[in-house]
Amino acid sequence: MSDIAYLNGEFLLLDQARVPVLDRGFIFGDGIYEVIPAYSRRPFRLPEHLRRLQRSLDAIRLANPMTGAEWTRLIHDLIARHAGEDQSVYLQVTRGVAKRDHAFPGRETMPTVFMMSNPLVTPSREMVEAGATAVTATDFRWLRCDIKVTSLLANCLLRQHAADAGADEVVMFRDGYLTEGSSSNVFAVKTGVLLAPPKNHLVLPGITYDVVLELAALRKVPVEVREVTESEVRGADELWLTSSSKEVLAITRLDGKPVGSGRPGPVFKTVHQAFQEFKRKIMRQAA
Ligand code: PDD
Repeated sequence: MSDIAYLNGEFLLLDQARVPVLDRGFIFGDGIYEVIPAYSRRPFRLPEHLRRLQRSLDAIRLANPMTGAEWTRLIHDLIARHAGEDQSVYLQVTRGVAKRDHAFPGRETMPTVFMMSNPLVTPSREMVEAGATAVTATDFRWLRCDIKVTSLLANCLLRQHAADAGADEVVMFRDGYLTEGSSSNVFAVKTGVLLAPPKNHLVLPGITYDVVLELAALRKVPVEVREVTESEVRGADELWLTSSSKEVLAITRLDGKPVGSGRPGPVFKTVHQAFQEFKRKIMRQAA
């Protein structure tokens, strides 16, 4: 049975949703997207996701086709049309269908708006207890990694580099400093201090990244938001990755070598527990 999707003003079966080949999303990867987790059918940090959506649209100079209230209504409507309690809402806006020309089309071109929802698959208990594996790579992406663009070829190549090595994610460095993963933010812990790369043009401003920093502060974990060197990452006691689907997950092997003790560390356990409690609180509110 096919899922329900949203495309340009209507709900329809996902496998019947069609976009013309001249859509600039297809031709140029000229679009932006969001991935919003929903726990107990409630979109998590929706205002923050919609703010980042607006920021991405502004950065690519595309007018927002909907108001915040309209997005909110549509996202709730899409969730209501799906059975799962926990869902992952994907939305994408492209610059629309136009004759192939790198320069932007005229104002008459309407953006393409697409949304779908999939079951939210968070890491299993085994994965949380064992941790993920990662390999390092040079960050060869462009200099606007802060925009959530659909042109993700570099991220796909980098993730495949990890998959080829039998690893879950890449940990990337640019000019000797930690940036992030192919689809996650990366944190390090050294002697009890949580080290977070700053949110600049080289990393995606993760919604989970902000949640983790808030929870760390609440649990009195010392935090330093600053550039983190490659040698600090290689010598870290703990490494974590964060994203809307992975939540917060320890990386316990890097390039085949154990990270710290090779098990998820004590600071991870504190923040992971805080994250789960935070989620449960939201679920209780939803009930
Ligand atoms: N990826 N960095 C990159 C490059 C990402 O693609 C993502 C998210 C993140 C984490 O952001 P957030 O915490 O807001 O999910 C960091 C999504 C999940 C994806 O592309 O599927």
